[in-house]
This record gives sequence, structure tokens and C-alpha cells, in this order.
Amino acid sequence: MAGLAGSCGVPCEVVVDVPGRCAASVEATAYFVVAEALSNVAKHSGAASAVVAVCRDGDRLLLRIGDDGRGGADERGGSGLSGIRRRVEAHDGRFTLDSPPGGPTTMRVELPCGS
Ligand SMILES: Nc1ncnc2c1ncn2[C@@H]1O[C@H](COP(=O)(O)OP(=O)(O)OP(=O)(O)O)[C@@H](O)[C@H]1O
Ligand SMILES: [Mg+2]
Repeated sequence: MAGLAGSCGVPCEVVVDVPGRCAASVEATAYFVVAEALSNVAKHSGAASAVVAVCRDGDRLLLRIGDDGRGGADERGGSGLSGIRRRVEAHDGRFTLDSPPGGPTTMRVELPCGS
């Protein structure tokens, strides 16, 4: 995650607090989500800063990726966000995106750790 954040081009704070491991497939999806989200931050947001937070709540892995940019992210606008939703839902996870015009943008993903 730190490597992704370092190459994002927008200053990005990374907070990871995850005791133990999740299933490798879940960790791979989490990595994919952060990569897609940060590529959107770099390409579209115009943000001055971003944050990636990863923590664990019981058997769920919680991800939050936020930026203070222009907002207006729309799943229908490309294949990145819809790909995140598809992949998260394939794990019985949840994907929510809050990105009003004018910003800020916050993406939240919950993944069951074991699946
Ligand atoms: N963090 C963001 N801030 C502002 N706008 C965003 C952000 N993320 C996405 N968007 C908007 O939502 C659209 C859809 O994003 P999505 O990732 O699905 O597609 P894309 O980035 O344009 O293309 P792809 O990811 O398929 O290469 C983008 O084209 C952009 O207009
Ligand atoms: Mg994208």
C-alpha cells in the first residue's frame, strides 16, 4: 500500500492497522481497490491530498480511500469503479462511493476476510 501511495503523485497518508492476515484472494482484491482508487485520484481528482486507511473489524477488512479534490466520480464513467464494485461483490463485500460535485470523494470497501 505504501508503494502505491508513494507513486500516486498526490501526497497520500497511509494508515494500516490490520492484525493477522486475510485470505490471499482478499488481500489481492484490497490491493487492487487501492491501486484503482489512487489511479483515479491521480488522474481525475485535482486533489491536494489523499488518505488510505485500512483496518480490521472482526472478520472484515475495511478500506477507505479519500481525497479532497473536485468530486463527481461516477461509476458509469469508465471501467475502473465498476470493476472495483464487481470484484468486491464477488467476495460478498460492500462498495460505497460518496463524491458530490465539488468534492470531497470517499470510497469505502468492506471485505469478509476469509472468502
Ligand atoms: N477521485 C476522483 N475524483 C474525481 N472524479 C473521479 C474520481 N474517480 C473517478 N472520477 C470520475 O469518475 C469517472 C469514472 O472513473 P473510472 O475509474 O470508472 O474510469 P476512468 O478512470 O475514467 O477509466 P479507467 O479506470 O477505466 O481507466 C472518471 O472518468 C472521472 O470522471
Ligand atoms: Mg479509473
